[in-house]
Amino acid sequence: MNFDELIVAAREVREKAYAPYSRFQVGAALRTASGRIFCGCNVENLSFGLTVCAERAAVFAAVAAGDTEFEAIAVVADSVQPVTPCGACRQVLAEFSGDLQICSANLQGQRFESTIGELLPRAKEGILGT
Ligand code: THU
Repeated sequence: MNFDELIVAAREVREKAYAPYSRFQVGAALRTASGRIFCGCNVENLSFGLTVCAERAAVFAAVAAGDTEFEAIAVVADSVQPVTPCGACRQVLAEFSGDLQICSANLQGQRFESTIGELLPRAKEGILGT
């Protein structure tokens, strides 16, 4: 899987992140099966609990555009180690793709590659009686 284009897009959208409370800006870029790229950044709120992560912002942008089949996502932050999606975002990503490829990267260029199945195994088993 080539993540280069997604990482460039995630780095760029990261600059738009609204993170006045944590000062931790995150960008995400999602490639759909149709080849389109959707981006998202974290948007924080004074209430803290209403904060939306970059990954979910990217997913919601894709869904709003009518695209729900996802192939890969890149997540970029200025962290010592590449940041993987939080638990809530893992569940949202798993909703749409059982074999999503994930690349976490920091600004130094370090990368960690994984899949949603590795980060959140058995994500949908048993829910609603399945
Ligand atoms: N954040 C993300 O947007 N994505 C992640 O994968 C990790 C955390 C955001 C949420 C919050 O605005 C800030 O980073 C600190 O947790």
